[in-house]
Amino acid sequence: MLRFRSNGFPRFCVKFGVLFAIFLRYTITMRTLISFLLIGLLFSPQLRAAQGKHAMAVTSDPYATKAALEILKQGGNAVDAAIAAQWVLNVVEPQSSGIGGGGFFLYYDAVTKQIHAFDGREQAPQDAYPDMFLDENGFPFPYYPDRITGGLAVGVPGTLKLLQVVHSRFGSKKFSFSELFGPAIEVAERGFPVSKRLARYLEEHKKRLKLFPASRQTFFNPEGKSLEVHSLLFMPDLAETFKLVQKEGIRVFYEGEIAKDIAKAVREAPFHPGLMSEDDLSFYRVKERNPIRGRYRQYDVFSMGPPSSGGTTLIETLQILGFFDLAYYGKTADGIHLFSEAQKLAFQDRNHWLADPDYVEIPTEKIVSLEFAEERSQAIRWEYAIPTTQAAMSPLNLGASHTSHLSIVDEWGNMVSYTTTIESVFGSALMVPGRGFLLNNELTDFEAVPKDDKGKPVANAPEGGKRPMSSMTPTFIFREGKPLMIVGAAGGTKIIGAVLNILTNVLDFGMSLNDAMNAPRIINRYGPTEMETFLYENQTIVHDLERRGHPIRHEPSMGIAQAVWFDEDNHAVYGETDPRGEGSALGY
Ligand code: GLY
Repeated sequence: MLRFRSNGFPRFCVKFGVLFAIFLRYTITMRTLISFLLIGLLFSPQLRAAQGKHAMAVTSDPYATKAALEILKQGGNAVDAAIAAQWVLNVVEPQSSGIGGGGFFLYYDAVTKQIHAFDGREQAPQDAYPDMFLDENGFPFPYYPDRITGGLAVGVPGTLKLLQVVHSRFGSKKFSFSELFGPAIEVAERGFPVSKRLARYLEEHKKRLKLFPASRQTFFNPEGKSLEVHSLLFMPDLAETFKLVQKEGIRVFYEGEIAKDIAKAVREAPFHPGLMSEDDLSFYRVKERNPIRGRYRQYDVFSMGPPSSGGTTLIETLQILGFFDLAYYGKTADGIHLFSEAQKLAFQDRNHWLADPDYVEIPTEKIVSLEFAEERSQAIRWEYAIPTTQAAMSPLNLGASHTSHLSIVDEWGNMVSYTTTIESVFGSALMVPGRGFLLNNELTDFEAVPKDDKGKPVANAPEGGKRPMSSMTPTFIFREGKPLMIVGAAGGTKIIGAVLNILTNVLDFGMSLNDAMNAPRIINRYGPTEMETFLYENQTIVHDLERRGHPIRHEPSMGIAQAVWFDEDNHAVYGETDPRGEGSALGY
């Protein structure tokens, strides 16, 4: 039997509805109406938290969660559900992820008890070169809008091949790969109400989007006005693309007519034309990587390794914190100082070493070793903050909540933690004409300046065929060999910190998943200590931290996470979506 807990909007509405029902208790018709309203709200796909006995899906959009739940209920497994949800996300969150992007997929096989990590990251075209984002005077193009917009930053998309690979390896085979496009095609053709976030982003990014005729035609009316919240958006071209892949298989995308269209759109983009050829698409391969493993107190942490920096940085931070009693310090100035410093040290190592492991040697084992964490922990001083040399980050590169994360478990106990992206909001803003999908701008995750102050090439410099470093952090937590949590987040380089905040809230502070998700976040990316509002307003703490030398930055919202928590004692599984986003959790 389904049982939902709700908070935020639904809880308020239910309370309001009950009061209203009492007020109108004599009106039979109104009572009936209100009952319907309440039932509707109770089962509204906007529910942020859910409890189930068997399976759970948590995604960043209610349509996608619903699609995942349906697949799970019809006997599909977690992989099938994640695939169906991804295609729905492509439709309803075109700004965040899709067939024009890439991602990292972590899968736990409940039979073999093995964890598999797949890299479907976008790849630079063979013609890419280290100075590609520098102008004729050797200065990087301004990040916004130049570097992030148009063909130059588009990497070869990996999402479609990634999902085809995980389906063929681990799908239940109850659903063919092509069947899993069904729910997305339905939503794309029937239309869906534009969400608040999508409406806001359309307004914010209208100049970029209007540079490209297909993007303009999809998201703006003939007078050039962007779609308003709750207006219906149809994605007929995307539905046709999905149908073509259903009919002809993924080759049509990597070697057929869609590949031709992608290469043409990139090379002939009216703004910053790019370097991609049809060969780049046909050579694209998904890579199975070793998951990154670490130990934090009595828990085992598994996450994504290079070319994502997520796993190593999360585990290094946790293992540094493991040398302190974080629970004892709590969210005091001492506790926040410690928490921020550990992140800062791990981010410093990330920035120095992390890149594509097929191009650069990365001391991964060392970074996630306890010996190294102990050595790094000794750099932390209570009296002062470690100074950083990080130049001020561009206000537009602060990790807005583009990207999407899905956390799913099926009734057999198979788990998926999948983070997927087209990088910036609306990626490159370049939609492939007639195909209905936006292309990523993932190559902006390379360092635009390819050499350091001494003229030495940096690890994460652009290069032909290389994959840019990511921060995506799809993660599993185990206790005594049994699954305890599935977690991951959106939020650019703040993803790692968002996941870290949730994990320490649960594992150190004993918070419920709901409280852990709601709690204000503290993040350090080898720069200022960034704080969400509630903590920032605590001036005693802020002054104490400033006295130790922390520059403090106020951020209203950092990261959008989706998580699942297993309560073995009560044979229950909880799903929780981040109140900072528009997602939902559904289980049974
Ligand atoms: N595009 C976000 C990331 O890869 O971290």
